[in-house]
Amino acid sequence: EPPLDELIASLTVDVPDYPEPGVLFRDLTPVFADGPAFRRMVEGLAAPGASDPRAAAIAEAAGPDSDAGFDVVVGVEARGFLLAAAVALGSGVGVVPVRKAGKLPRERIAADYALEYGTATLELHADSIRPGSRVLVVDDVLATGGTLGAAIALVERLGGIVTAVSVVVELAALGGRQRLAPHTVHTLWTT
Ligand code: PRP
Ligand code: HPA
Repeated sequence: EPPLDELIASLTVDVPDYPEPGVLFRDLTPVFADGPAFRRMVEGLAAPGASDPRAAAIAEAAGPDSDAGFDVVVGVEARGFLLAAAVALGSGVGVVPVRKAGKLPRERIAADYALEYGTATLELHADSIRPGSRVLVVDDVLATGGTLGAAIALVERLGGIVTAVSVVVELAALGGRQRLAPHTVHTLWTT
């Protein structure tokens, strides 16, 4: 069985010049489509301490019925939804969507974030996070960190405590990790 980072790297397809010239797009859909890889990815995202061998040992000793360490999983539209729902199911907690503007029907809060050109907006239902609850935020890719930064800000405005942030792949050259500090990002593959 290959290490998870090698497995993800081997299944990811690099697409030059998508969505615009000069960008090397990392397409993770083949990783999602592979049953064993998807399972390992979801398990890895649910264990934000697990890249630290000490935390992994503690979690293993605590056994399968132990507290997951978070009360709810927040997933970021759209690809984050696929992962967050699976992580929530495997951990016995619920899932809450952070959506692009205009998709949520009830009272909501909004945060703008920077795109390469202009800005976009993410939204969260105002009653979706219990104040004081422990939140795991999940997405597929950490690039500039604009998206996750906005998602974290929304959760915190509702009184949630972001105890962990997990992504499948960190594109290190884009500086997302630095941007999200002091939150730390658990990643399954850094490239
Ligand atoms: C991608 C990706 C992350 C974000 C990362 O989503 O799924 O959410 O960009 O980029 P950043 O760190 O620079 O913010 P995208 O906005 O393309 O939306 P999609 O999932 O709906 O395709
Ligand atoms: N792949 C997938 N999603 C992304 C990327 C990428 O290379 N960059 C920003 N979001």
